[in-house]
Amino acid sequence: MQVISVINYKGGVGKTTLTSNLSAELANRGYKVLMIDLDPQTSLTFSFIKPDEWSEHFATDMTIKNWFKTAKRDKIDFNDLIIDLHMFDNEPGQLNLISSHLDLINIDLELATQLSGANMSQAKANFLKVHSILLKGIEQLSEDYNFVIIDCPPNFNIVTKNAIVASDYILIPAKPDYLSTLGIDYLQRSVNQLINDYNDYCKIDDNDEEEDYIEIDPRILGVVFTMVQFYGGVPIQALRQYMTQTKKLGLPIFKDHIRENKTIFSDAPEYGIPVVISDHHRADIVAEIRAFVTDFESKV
Ligand SMILES: Nc1ncnc2c1ncn2[C@@H]1O[C@H](COP(=O)(O)OP(=O)(O)O)[C@@H](O)[C@H]1O
Ligand SMILES: [Mg+2]
Repeated sequence: MQVISVINYKGGVGKTTLTSNLSAELANRGYKVLMIDLDPQTSLTFSFIKPDEWSEHFATDMTIKNWFKTAKRDKIDFNDLIIDLHMFDNEPGQLNLISSHLDLINIDLELATQLSGANMSQAKANFLKVHSILLKGIEQLSEDYNFVIIDCPPNFNIVTKNAIVASDYILIPAKPDYLSTLGIDYLQRSVNQLINDYNDYCKIDDNDEEEDYIEIDPRILGVVFTMVQFYGGVPIQALRQYMTQTKKLGLPIFKDHIRENKTIFSDAPEYGIPVVISDHHRADIVAEIRAFVTDFESKV
């Protein structure tokens, strides 16, 4: 099982669109895939489930919020949060979802209050505990998933850090523009800081806690450029300078880009079916996304 977090500080860069298309195409290729929506904006959730249906059947008991709330977590099994989307009849390919909830916004504040400790060693134990909540859930998964793909919110709060701690890989969708380039550099440094702290605290954990923590090693899988405008078969000149700058950061860059196309990408949620597995869309665009997924498969 590989756990992949899809992260960028910025909103509106195509994280959710990439998460749904990547996950659906992997399931289409026969993998068992679990998506986890960690963004309180719930757009991944609502690209697969109608809001009315979600409110009626899932909002109360089947969202990731329940896992992050200590009082609820003690009474549930992580597997009980999983929604089977029944989208594929090509066994073994399977696409499941753990949905998000608007209240997840408040969870970060609640978790922050659990960080303090009476002394340094207690504070470090609390740090490990608070940042490992999602990891401990994923470790409970009873199904044998090939991929767990986490759609992160556009921030670096405790919930996002939980995703990184639980991950083998980090995938960074980015628009080729000035702020994104700066943001990726900052993200890379923040991720490294988190890994260093977590692993430092793991070593000196004096084990009077019942929980065990082991060192983490999430790797940046790469940056994938999204909403790219092409002219004459290549990205337009204005974007190429930012792509070059991003390459200089020393991170792996996916050779396939996700093209900008307002019509097909904004229509897709209406169908409840990601572009890549729908028959309604331009074959060349679908082929481009599939090429990215093939590249992704070769890297994980
Ligand atoms: N390749 C694309 N071309 C055009 N519009 C896109 C593309 N990818 C996503 N969008 C649209 O841009 C908006 C933001 O995308 P989304 O995936 O929700 O970003 P994020 O999760 O980073 O906030 C959505 O309305 C989405 O439909
Ligand atoms: Mg999103």
